[in-house]
Amino acid sequence: MNIILLGPPGAGKGTQAKRLEDAYGIPQLSTGDMLREAVTSGSEIGQKAKQVMDAGELMPDGLMVKMIEDRIQQKDCAKGFILDGFPRTVAQAEALDEMLARLGTGLDHVIELKVDEEALVERIVGRYACARCGAGYHDMFQKPKVDGVCDYCGATQFKRRPDDNEETVRARMEAYRDQTAPILPYYKEKSILKQVDGMADIDEVTTELKKILNGGG
Ligand code: AP5
Ligand code: MG
Ligand code: ZN
Repeated sequence: MNIILLGPPGAGKGTQAKRLEDAYGIPQLSTGDMLREAVTSGSEIGQKAKQVMDAGELMPDGLMVKMIEDRIQQKDCAKGFILDGFPRTVAQAEALDEMLARLGTGLDHVIELKVDEEALVERIVGRYACARCGAGYHDMFQKPKVDGVCDYCGATQFKRRPDDNEETVRARMEAYRDQTAPILPYYKEKSILKQVDGMADIDEVTTELKKILNGGG
């Protein structure tokens, strides 16, 4: 099953992709996470990515398409994948269709998480993650069960993304409106686009997504 989760910064793509990964046994492919790994490794791509991400802009299409093309051909994607953060432009969406056709497969679900813009800054500025296992948390909406201790691995160190400040978030939202939102009509025309209310509780969003993926939505 090949799935795309779409939505602006803070819509819940990463949160939900992680849950679906566990439920369906297919990997989350987050281009944002891949770029953050490149930044940590200090590679040439990572150095460029750091500048682009700190400015809230987008990386070049060609580079991102190549990154995904390499990734979806790895063994763990044999049963499918959940794209989170890709495609982000019409050019990326077209390249993805072309690549999947060439590989003898296609998209099964494209789902937009619909959210009010005012909620997004609050979600993003309050977000943090476990420094050891990467589990995601939020100052208000998703606290660890024991204060200061990761639910999953017991670590006590957490980290925040450098691009999760109000100024960069505004630039990321603008990039979404200008460059990413135009892919919604692209998928709508293909009658593959579905929508889920991303303003609902995290568990409720997961339930709605599963309904669609199980063929009932
Ligand atoms: P990326 O990492 O993809 O960032 P993004 O698109 O801005 O999305 P986020 O990760 O901020 O949001 P999310 O939807 O995953 O939200 P989350 O689930 O964490 O990309 C980063 C950068 O990389 C880009 O700016 C760009 O520069 C570059 N890049 C990446 N891909 C690219 C591409 N294809 N082409 C070019 N450049 C690319 O949720 C947010 C918070 O809200 C969490 O704390 C969570 O706990 C909370 N939350 C989630 N759901 C709910 C809910 N229902 N109710 C209450 N709280 C909730
Ligand atoms: Mg994310
Ligand atoms: Zn952890």
